[in-house]
Amino acid sequence: MVGKICGTGSYVPARVMDNDDLSRIVDTNDAWIRERTGIGKRHIIDGETTSYMAGQAAMRALERSGVKPDEIDMILLATSSSETVYPCAACEVQRMIGATYASGYDINAACTGFVLAFNAAQAYISAGFCRTVLVIGAESMSNMIDWTDRGTCILFGDGAGAVVLRAEEGTPVSMAAHSDGEKGPALTGLSRHRKGWEKELEDGAVKESFIHMDGQGVFKFAVRKVPEIIEEVLEKADASLDDIDYFVLHQANRRIIEAVAKRLKTDISKFPMNLEEYANTSAATVPILLDEMDRSGMLKRGQKLMTAGFGAGLTWAACLFEW
Ligand code: UT7
Repeated sequence: MVGKICGTGSYVPARVMDNDDLSRIVDTNDAWIRERTGIGKRHIIDGETTSYMAGQAAMRALERSGVKPDEIDMILLATSSSETVYPCAACEVQRMIGATYASGYDINAACTGFVLAFNAAQAYISAGFCRTVLVIGAESMSNMIDWTDRGTCILFGDGAGAVVLRAEEGTPVSMAAHSDGEKGPALTGLSRHRKGWEKELEDGAVKESFIHMDGQGVFKFAVRKVPEIIEEVLEKADASLDDIDYFVLHQANRRIIEAVAKRLKTDISKFPMNLEEYANTSAATVPILLDEMDRSGMLKRGQKLMTAGFGAGLTWAACLFEW
């Protein structure tokens, strides 16, 4: 058995902050941000929480799938910016959508989280442990950002995406995942929900920004490791680059995606992007993009999709699956 996507959904806050808005907060400008990242704007929460956005994306995915909430037996929610450590956001979504018989938990693996959750769902399904799994990526990155740090605050946005997977006969998926904890300091995050952070900041006890990043280090890591893991998954599947219809990569930076395409000697048209509109929504980028692709009619049954995520940990993961 394999998990087939039978519905996608997404939710982004209505409040938009474009690059010009940011240039009034930090010393930056629209031209720099567009040229270095491909980002034009980001959607920012305005009262929404991570689990609220996750629940909205889940409801939209369920509606499109025709699956009823009580048919779901697992909810996997990838997030690093939930409003509570516990209860986990997955259980909050379970309550919101009325998925009475589902178990669920959160997966904290930053920008790689959704791909890891998707892989875990596929493993549960192929083992016969689950039949219907809701996989969500949701983030309130604006709660984690130091809005005085132009090196990071320009990169991120908020939002959520979800897919419903149902067990069907079909071509097995191929997947891979890796971590390198030695390189953890390259990208660290401190939640704004940490009690007392304002005081620590005032006292100078917190010297680092909430998200602290070696931008060029992360850039180089992504450009090297993403093509490697894609090749690894292709080899496992006995497939070639030409077999892939679309590469649905984590949307961190347009230049990273272009560099990956170049290394793989694959036309950039096979790498859909939506960074211009949403920026980097961490664990939510891949499911938001999948939802947009599905809604726009780009996707046809039987097409082969390669998804890949990378980020803090450091972590990176990929999955080859049939639409
Ligand atoms: O999900 C994974 C999350 N992480 C990432 O995706 C990070 C990957 N890395 C990147 O995307 C890029 O490294 C950045 C976009 C963060 C930075 O781009 P870069 O081309 O590596 O720029 P840089 O850090 O080398 O900075 C170049 C210049 C510097 O000025 P000087 O020293 O040349 O005078 C920076 O101070 O650009 C300056 N700069 C900015 N200027 C205007 C840095 N940030 C900004 C800014 N606006 N926002």
